[in-house]
Amino acid sequence: MNTFALKGNICFSTDREHLSFFPHSYVICDNGVCAGVYQKFPDKYIGIPCIDYKDCLVLPGFTDLHVHASQYAFRGLGMDLELIDWLNTRTFPEEQKYEDLSYARRAYEIFVHDLLEGATTRACIFSTVHEESTLLLMELLEQAGFHAYVGKVSMDRNCPEHLCEKGAEAAVQAAEHWIRACADRFHNIKPILTPRFIPSCTDNLMRGIAFLREKYHLSLQSHLSENLGEIAWVKELCPDVGGYGEAYEKFGVLEGDRPVIMAHCVHSTPEEAELLKRRGVFVAHCPQSNTNLASGIAPVRKYLDMGIHVGLGSDIAAGHSLSMFRIMAEAIQCSKLRWRLSDQSLEPLRVEEAFYLATRGGGAFFGKVGSFEKGFAFDAVVADDSALRCPCHLTLRERLERLIYLADDRHVAAKYIVGRAVKGQAEGLPLRKNTLA
Ligand code: GUN
Ligand code: FE
Repeated sequence: MNTFALKGNICFSTDREHLSFFPHSYVICDNGVCAGVYQKFPDKYIGIPCIDYKDCLVLPGFTDLHVHASQYAFRGLGMDLELIDWLNTRTFPEEQKYEDLSYARRAYEIFVHDLLEGATTRACIFSTVHEESTLLLMELLEQAGFHAYVGKVSMDRNCPEHLCEKGAEAAVQAAEHWIRACADRFHNIKPILTPRFIPSCTDNLMRGIAFLREKYHLSLQSHLSENLGEIAWVKELCPDVGGYGEAYEKFGVLEGDRPVIMAHCVHSTPEEAELLKRRGVFVAHCPQSNTNLASGIAPVRKYLDMGIHVGLGSDIAAGHSLSMFRIMAEAIQCSKLRWRLSDQSLEPLRVEEAFYLATRGGGAFFGKVGSFEKGFAFDAVVADDSALRCPCHLTLRERLERLIYLADDRHVAAKYIVGRAVKGQAEGLPLRKNTLA
């Protein structure tokens, strides 16, 4: 039985604009599912273990909606280039190394270890074109207790020989072979189709990907309208379509019973934004990547106001940090610069909105994830802010705001994914009626 309570200062988003705070309260995990938040311990649960995190904040888990595990090794390097030059000089040479399983193991062990230390509980991850090392990454994530989507990258043009799959047919076969290799092998790590982006994928590869999406009922992740040079290139490659988004739509890859994630959407036209909404696409906003590669800043508030799903991504290694705290802060900061420098029609994001995007916004890609409302998966992060010293009293709202700006992995005291403790394992003591606070 995986039923227990956590005690602490519980905070979560009720909607995009509102946070709920429950000081010194209980959140109940009933077999991996949240059974609600209570200020007074409910009689029904008397006798279950309760872990008392004292004055810590207890937050829902965070979703990194777009991250390249295979780029973690060169995070923080090569930030003086724009997208296409960065791919050619930094990214592709690194990704070639994942043909070597022993290199992949060393690199992916570091990635998974570091992901575990932080506040991320769910992630949508790119590996490389290589099946074996992708399966290894999936195994490491599963062992660590994550719930994640992982995509073996598909690409058959405009990349170095050793990364370039040998024609569309071979690339589709490789994707299908990998999908079959995943079957029955993982419980919590799922395959997701991952055509890199239009410039790397021929028309026939995109057609094959759409076929696999329908055949295996798979989600899909890719990149869209990140950089102006990239968009101009797509126009040259696909002269017969009206825009970048349509280049995906044309092959049917946006359609399907499982959702799609498009990273960036920095420069999407109004028509493209409408297409994203119509197809229920999740936009992964990656503020660090937007700034590091000088791509621009995605109009997040516009997408939210349109009712488009939005979450946050690290986009390692175009983004340099896995920390969801930093990414929330940078989403706010980027939105302020965008507002001040280029577009006063979209107000900056607020703390409530950044927190919403990092928890419920991206979590929705996984279903009922990212909240402590009843029925949500029990993903929790225990944040200990006692080292962020302050001489005056702070409200819980203020403490959460400071965590967003100041916290790092050291402040993640414990982490639970679907009720399983994956960091900071603590013994829970059964509560008896007469010991209840
Ligand atoms: N577009 C195509 N590939 C990539 C990648 O690896 N990172 C980013 N940021 N954009 C891309
Ligand atoms: Fe990316």
